[in-house]
Amino acid sequence: MLIRVPAGWQIPEREAAPESAYWNRRRLLAAVGLLPASPLLRGAPDGKAPYPAQRNPEFADAGRAITEEWAATGYNNFYEFDPQDKQAVKDKVAAFQIRPWTIEVTGLVAKPQTLDLDQLEKSMPLEERVYRFRCVEAWSMVVPWTGFPLHELIRRVEPKPEAKFVRFVTVHRPSQMPGIRQANWYPWPYFEGLRMDEAMNPLCLVATGLYGKPLPKQNGAPVRIVAPWKYGYKSIKSIVKIEFVAKQPATFWNQLQPAEYGFYSNVNPKKPHPRWSQATEKVIPRMERVATLPYNGYEKWVAAMYAGKED
Ligand code: MTE
Repeated sequence: MLIRVPAGWQIPEREAAPESAYWNRRRLLAAVGLLPASPLLRGAPDGKAPYPAQRNPEFADAGRAITEEWAATGYNNFYEFDPQDKQAVKDKVAAFQIRPWTIEVTGLVAKPQTLDLDQLEKSMPLEERVYRFRCVEAWSMVVPWTGFPLHELIRRVEPKPEAKFVRFVTVHRPSQMPGIRQANWYPWPYFEGLRMDEAMNPLCLVATGLYGKPLPKQNGAPVRIVAPWKYGYKSIKSIVKIEFVAKQPATFWNQLQPAEYGFYSNVNPKKPHPRWSQATEKVIPRMERVATLPYNGYEKWVAAMYAGKED
């Protein structure tokens, strides 16, 4: 696994003012009348730009340095674009159309609906959270997501008592996603699932942004799930459907290799993958080894959900 090192002229992220600081400063100056209110600061109907969103202090520090943006947006698992080369994904997304975008919310809910993403973003409380993110392949990163808790959306559609699981589906666009034809033996579109309490857990985010900007296509634009206590493949990208179901739904990797990828897939350093250890992980881009934490370090938020139930 090789990561390209940036050219010498690239200013390391930590030496530049973060873009969010720049925008927050501009907003502050505009508020005290030192700058005219710029149209760029407009976005949501209340006049606030959706990006960057305010960082949630509870998730401001993930205990590790934030991964450089070029690395987190240049090393991606998104099989629909390239099932082999993580560093090629970003070069294959240009044709992917991310507007207009709707999400169908269906199944066992009192208020099924089709949501327009622009409307949804404006109506939801967007916030920024710095999360550790751990792939099952034993690499990891630390990134600031922008989004809102999935439970905010779930409450809005009023699940029926029979709804026990939530199923998510990625968009299926072979003409814009070259990896689908390249790997036509996979059961496209990509699909994932969570148990209802997992989906309602305050950690579970619907992400629409990264590094204070809308999500890059390679990271799952325009909208994805982020469940940071689970291996990365549970965090499904570019979703178009959310379905509330009574039975545990099939999931993409579990259907392909059930012995290697379970439904729950909580990060667990003590449970090795059949082909490699999960005790440590390599932090991109330098691939230094660090210990993997139970539930990726989010034990306090999630462990109680699994007493005796985890696969
Ligand atoms: N979602 C879809 N639709 N297709 C994918 O190939 N890969 C998963 C997950 N979501 C994947 C997906 C895996 S294995 C990981 S580790 C993360 O996305 C990677 O997210 P990132 O590229 O933003 O780091």
